[in-house]
Amino acid sequence: MNILILGSGGREHSLAWAIKQNPKCDNVFVSPGNAGIGQICNCIEINILDAKQVLKAVKEYSIDFVLIGPEAPLAAGVSDVLKNEGILTFGPSKASSQLETSKKFTKEICDAAGAPTAEYKSFASLEPALAYIKTKGAPLVVKADGLAAGKGVIVATDIEMALTAVREIFGGSFGDAGTSVVIEEFMEGEEASLFVLVDGKTILPIGTAQDHKRVGEGDTGLNTGGMGAYSPAPILDQSVVNKTIDRIIRPTMYEMMDRGMPFTGVLYAGLMIKDSNPRLVEYNVRFGDPECQVLMMRLGGQILDALLSTAKGELGDVKINWADDHSITVVMASSGYPGSYEKGTVINGLDDLPSDSNFVCFHAGTEKQGGKIVANGGRVLNVTTRANTLIEAQKSAYQMIKNIDWPQGFYRKDIGWRGL
Ligand code: AMP
Ligand code: GLY
Repeated sequence: MNILILGSGGREHSLAWAIKQNPKCDNVFVSPGNAGIGQICNCIEINILDAKQVLKAVKEYSIDFVLIGPEAPLAAGVSDVLKNEGILTFGPSKASSQLETSKKFTKEICDAAGAPTAEYKSFASLEPALAYIKTKGAPLVVKADGLAAGKGVIVATDIEMALTAVREIFGGSFGDAGTSVVIEEFMEGEEASLFVLVDGKTILPIGTAQDHKRVGEGDTGLNTGGMGAYSPAPILDQSVVNKTIDRIIRPTMYEMMDRGMPFTGVLYAGLMIKDSNPRLVEYNVRFGDPECQVLMMRLGGQILDALLSTAKGELGDVKINWADDHSITVVMASSGYPGSYEKGTVINGLDDLPSDSNFVCFHAGTEKQGGKIVANGGRVLNVTTRANTLIEAQKSAYQMIKNIDWPQGFYRKDIGWRGL
């Protein structure tokens, strides 16, 4: 079959890499893709937020299955348009994507479903929000309601910080994402993520992961899209996974069904775990990046069958074959990230790296220029390995990364420390 993947990150590179291992797959097209994806797939230039352009590409390249990577096309309703045209598509509807695109919506779903999460209140104007903060006191977490590229969450350690955050959000610093604000209790515990496929009525867990969001070693400094990740997450043992499904995921699925917006796709639950009890921090309705890279490294080609079955509503027939393995990914980013950074810097040494079922360097922000691979984004490469233990996977990732010659890049030296 011919498959079209929408997106351009390490997430999409890893999805393409895994899917290509499945004999059902004939050709993989990726739009827009990146330099690494271009080495294994056909990259096509279309505006992936424009459903008409996606449809045109589906016809032109005889696509049988579309896999939507990032949240933006989901929020734009691309999945709805494709499904209405009868095209087999992996990705939730615009309505059910509200589990990611609106924090207020998710909180209401959790309330209705009885799913444990932080206590909260939502506000559509400034004054009542300020008054609420003063009655609650710090710490508090202030969140812009909508999609804000991961920057709309402020963990306020004192009242002044919380007041400033709501003033900024209502002042327009997050645009439309900030027309309403959710203020919630600060939850203590350890964070981890559970990934499940949902076909509307059936849930299939496909792995756990932990990421490192902060730019600096020891999880310090500014927040980023993620500087590395590993799977499995030791804290999410089978008993905590079962509790998460019973208390959070399944009630959410039924609540979405009751509202006439059944969820189909991958549900990525960000959890806070304390005393083996999970509470929901947030949902995402797509694979995490870089969490997807470690999941794909572990799942390989079987992921295609699971994704197809999800899209067809036949997930009940799918079994995942698990190996007792561990995967880690270390992100290489452009110096300056998550602030400003230089583009167009040349990366050498990539051609000599191995690429097998235990080691892949997935590309994120890369581009081919005159026969050379250059960085064109903040997060640029994801050195991803698999081994029998997390420590072995970590060792081999840091061993490999030494072969990449990119003076303008940097990476954290401690990815995996929490798991170890
Ligand atoms: P989110 O975008 O909702 O995942 O929030 C980003 C990060 O903020 C999370 O990964 C947590 O580290 C932190 N966070 C969000 N909500 C809370 C909360 N209620 N309590 C503690 N930390 C939180
Ligand atoms: N790594 C966090 C995310 O994909 O949202």
